[in-house]
Amino acid sequence: MTVTETRRPPAGGAGSGHYDVEAVRRDFPILSRTVHDGVPLVYLDSAATSQKPQVVLDAEREYYERHNANVHRGIHVLAEEATALYESARDRVAAFVGAPDRNEIVFTKNSSEALNLVAYAMSNALAAGPEAERFRLGPGDEVVVTEMEHHSNLVPWQMLCARTGATLRWIGLTDDGRLDLGNLDEVITERAKIVSFVHQSNILGTINPVSTIVARAREVGALTVLDGSQSVPHNPVNVTELGVDFLAFTGHKMCGPTGIGVLWGRRELLESMPPFLGGGEMIKVVTMSESTYADPPHRFEAGTPMIAQAVGLGAAVDYLTGLGMDAVAAHEHEITAYALKRLAEVPGLRVIGPQTAEDRGGAISFVLTGPDGRMVHPHDVGQVLDEQGIAVRVGHHCARPVCLRYNVPATTRASFHLYTTTAEIDALVEGLEQVRRFFLP
Ligand code: ALA
Repeated sequence: MTVTETRRPPAGGAGSGHYDVEAVRRDFPILSRTVHDGVPLVYLDSAATSQKPQVVLDAEREYYERHNANVHRGIHVLAEEATALYESARDRVAAFVGAPDRNEIVFTKNSSEALNLVAYAMSNALAAGPEAERFRLGPGDEVVVTEMEHHSNLVPWQMLCARTGATLRWIGLTDDGRLDLGNLDEVITERAKIVSFVHQSNILGTINPVSTIVARAREVGALTVLDGSQSVPHNPVNVTELGVDFLAFTGHKMCGPTGIGVLWGRRELLESMPPFLGGGEMIKVVTMSESTYADPPHRFEAGTPMIAQAVGLGAAVDYLTGLGMDAVAAHEHEITAYALKRLAEVPGLRVIGPQTAEDRGGAISFVLTGPDGRMVHPHDVGQVLDEQGIAVRVGHHCARPVCLRYNVPATTRASFHLYTTTAEIDALVEGLEQVRRFFLP
């Protein structure tokens, strides 16, 4: 098969351990645009979605221009090219997270769907054969999450408990934005069937101690699911080293397109796990009365998959690999430390989450309060920042229980990525001075 794949190395200095952030920024066309009639864009909302480098945009366009066909179904040239491109994206994603077997990578729509896939497979196990025994749960069993989950890793488990009669439990939070592991053995007990937790919090920025939680879950025989939505895009992540059973992440936060996510699962688990969605391509044999199911990963990819998006994700993975995830993590660590230092200079600003860059990623939530104790509502903060071209997210960040825990109605969140600069952090701090002048005279 001859397919041209867009494989231009990143401009910033491939995998050298350090890159030129200004050169990297030139790979992202959107970062040079202006907003509000000429104000330069300062994009500090990468935890919501990252921007995309030209190679990703090119890969998707080229797929449609030259190779578009359905996958795993045709014997013509285009169908073979499309299938090869789609499956090559699976190879790259597998290598990116250190998966021992390419068939352990299931493409989904996003992280939410990857997490729902596991949760629905568990309740579907109630009607499945003996091979699905370890996924069954019911009254008396427990599902454990943490209080810092975003809704994607909370609501599916609440729904699973409602469907099965299992009980939801959670690991609480300390005042400084970390997991309270003091009573871990009481929260994760022999009744736990599954422990699903976030690697890096989208609202607090906290990076959680995976090995401590996995060790306890293993001790009691519970399966572990790691939500890597905010960690895989920013740090080297290796599933074998982490020791979890499943990992969910999403393409659009890691410089890839929207509409494509990933569930990695240990092969022996995927092989015995019932499907989530039924349809074409996930079957072996179908009669009018029943069906048998394909082996993983196809068992979990019903219908026409997200082909162009997978191709785009493959290009994003190449781009990140070219920069080197160690270099990406080091850059973001520096930016986060700088941002925490600069934000501490803003009078009345309280960071909700860890105050130092240790075991912490680049999503910083904060509230701004005046001398009289009155809070400037985050929506007002966001609006005044936006007028200055600064894009942040305001609200509860799909993690409302965290806002309840810290007794704030909402926060302003600035979040960074491999292209964020210290000059953008300075712009944020100046922008917040404007907010203060406007609302706290
Ligand atoms: N979970 C995404 C965020 O944190 C949508 O903004």
